[in-house]
Amino acid sequence: MAMPSSKGTAVVTGASSGIGAVYAQRLAERGYDLLLVARDQARLNALAGQLAQQCGINSEVLVADLTQAEDLLRVEQRLSSDPAITLLVNNAGMAVAGDFLDNDIDRVQTMITLNVLAPTRLAHAAGNAFKARGKGTVINIASVLALVHEMANGVYNGTKSFVLNFSRSLETSLKPHGVRVQAVLPGLTRTEIFERSGISADGLPAENVMDVETMVDAALAGLDLGEIVTIPSLEKLENWQAYDDARAALLPDLSRRESASRYHR
Ligand SMILES: NC(=O)c1ccc[n+]([C@@H]2O[C@H](COP(=O)([O-])OP(=O)(O)OC[C@H]3O[C@@H](n4cnc5c(N)ncnc54)[C@H](OP(=O)(O)O)[C@@H]3O)[C@@H](O)[C@H]2O)c1
Repeated sequence: MAMPSSKGTAVVTGASSGIGAVYAQRLAERGYDLLLVARDQARLNALAGQLAQQCGINSEVLVADLTQAEDLLRVEQRLSSDPAITLLVNNAGMAVAGDFLDNDIDRVQTMITLNVLAPTRLAHAAGNAFKARGKGTVINIASVLALVHEMANGVYNGTKSFVLNFSRSLETSLKPHGVRVQAVLPGLTRTEIFERSGISADGLPAENVMDVETMVDAALAGLDLGEIVTIPSLEKLENWQAYDDARAALLPDLSRRESASRYHR
């Protein structure tokens, strides 16, 4: 076993495949010890063993189904009680494809639980622990679909809009306490999420799909740059700024005693 890392331990949810597995790899390369969370114990064990050997770090596996209250609580308790933990990547997530009205509503509920409830509770546990220690980082994986209202599955998009909103508000409350929060908004990224949600990734236009390593490397570069919101494929950062400025310009007029004049009869 290696000495505990001076960087501390990174907790990565959904580390058994895709974006989470690459975060685990890159964070191990940066010298973090790892606590890898997901349901598939065999895959987690294989990755944890490989990264410990390759990078000389300590790695541990915590098998948890984050849609199950007791499992989620075990991860929360670890985040609250382990002072070695310095970074949380709230990455585990799923998609349900197709039109909402055609979806299996129980599967939709599972998606809301995994994509919204789990990162919220984990960020609450980690956020309070990091605040008490005056340092730490929470990375929340949202999606560019957080910004898309009219296409794809509205509930999936809505869960990711939640993650974006929530991350920005959490960032405001934790920044004065020395804690970083970053929301990452990947576009289409080549992972298992498509097959898992019943879509073939083969049909997606190649020029719109990023390799998972490219996505995670950009997201970590965004973290290093101090970004609060990172959109890996967006070249024209000024367009995001203009969008955000337009949103901010709405704020003073969104709640007033009088209704707008077009509604006066
Ligand atoms: N790929 C994209 O195009 C894309 C774009 C934007 C955002 N995202 C977001 O990126 C994140 C990672 O997705 P991915 O693309 O890497 O997909 P992925 O390869 O399917 O990985 C999903 C991960 O979440 C874990 N997971 C699923 N259900 C879980 C549960 N109930 N409890 C605990 N862990 C669970 C899976 O592990 P187990 O099966 O072992 O539990 C797996 O490790 C998600 O939040 C997704 O919404 C993806």
